[in-house]
Formats: sequence, structure tokens, C-alpha cells
Amino acid sequence: MTGKFITFEGIDGAGKSTHLDWLTRHLRGRGHSVVVTREPGGTPLGEKLREILLSQPMHLETEALLMFAARREHLEKVIRPALSAGKWVISDRFSDASFAYQGGGRGLDENKLLALEQWVQDGLQPDLTLLFDVPVEVSRQRLSNNATLDRFEQEQQEFFQRVRENYLHRAQQFSTRFRIIDATRSLPEIQKELEEIFSVH
Ligand code: TYD
Repeated sequence: MTGKFITFEGIDGAGKSTHLDWLTRHLRGRGHSVVVTREPGGTPLGEKLREILLSQPMHLETEALLMFAARREHLEKVIRPALSAGKWVISDRFSDASFAYQGGGRGLDENKLLALEQWVQDGLQPDLTLLFDVPVEVSRQRLSNNATLDRFEQEQQEFFQRVRENYLHRAQQFSTRFRIIDATRSLPEIQKELEEIFSVH
């Protein structure tokens, strides 16, 4: 028996955390056993790497390698065991974020990311990826309410523009796995769409 692997993606400030909490409650209400996790992070080692990744400046390849190192651990300790036990796994970000941020945002050669993906994931992809999409101006506005911004959130508008474009490009490229959610809408409107998506999943 295998469960379903669902990932949440989007630029910082798209509001995915709020929707993730709601969807988790919704699915648990329908009787599913749901494991909620995040990247970078999800394991004790991964959370230590997250702390470093979100605060410490580093070479862009070091950044990509650490993201995938955390992911390797996460797959081994959390994602694969939960899926094999028939649980649903919802991860706040996964490897699409590496393509969007390290590839699109920072300009790392996509072939290097593809090699890491092949190595670390060994063919495993999410069953469904929800891309919470908002224009960069909207996300900047939402982020301006945060008291402190991490190393990624402090990036310039152009960086997020590239990240967003890369996400949208991947959503087209892998259109059967992705759903683009217009996250500029109100919470009830988005929740209605999520309910519809999961009435068939
Ligand atoms: P995020 O998931 O947005 O958490 P929070 O809502 O607490 O800010 O933060 C994680 C950051 O890590 C985000 O800015 C994107 C970045 N990131 C990458 O650059 N590459 C990756 O592979 C992953 C998983 C995340």
C-alpha cells in the first residue's frame, strides 16, 4: 500500500502555510492519516541544515548541495517510510523549490540540479504539486508584515520574479503533476478549489 505525496510550492509570501494547515485539517477530517513536513528540514539533521541555509551566506552550489543533502535524509527517514505505510505526506516545499530558487533565482546550471535530483530522489516525484501563485508585488506586500526576514526573503524583487517564472515554467512542463492555484484570491475561494481538487484525489 502506498500513500499520496503532495507538495506545496510558491514564492515567499504566497500564503502557502495557511492553505497547508487548512488542507491538513480537511484531509484528516476525511479520515486520512496525514504526515506534515517541510523542506529544508523535516528531520533533526535537516532542521539544523535549514537553520544554516536560512541564515549563512554561501556559494550557490553549496546551497544546492545542502538542500539536497537535507532532502536525502528527509526521504529516507520520513517521506518514504510514511508512503510505504499508506500515509499521505504533505511537504511544505520539495525539489521544485531547488529548481526555482537555486536554478531560476540564483542561476545554477539546471543539469547540476537534474543530476542531484536523479541521485537523491531515484525517480520519486510528488503525486501532486500545488503551486500557490501570486505576482511578486503581492508577495512583497505580504512579506512586509513579517518582523524578520530570512536570507531568501531578503532577496530583491528580480530574484523572486525569476523564481516565479521558473515555477510557472515547471508547472507547464509537468502539467499532469502540477496544479496552479491563483493565490491572490480570498481564503474561502482557494479552500473551495482545494476541496474540489481533493474530491477526486
Ligand atoms: P519557507 O518554506 O518559505 O518557510 P517560511 O514560510 O518559514 O519562511 O522557507 C524556506 C526557504 O528556503 C524559502 O525561501 C525557499 C528556500 N528553499 C530553496 O531555496 N531551495 C529549496 O530546495 C527549498 C526546499 C527551499
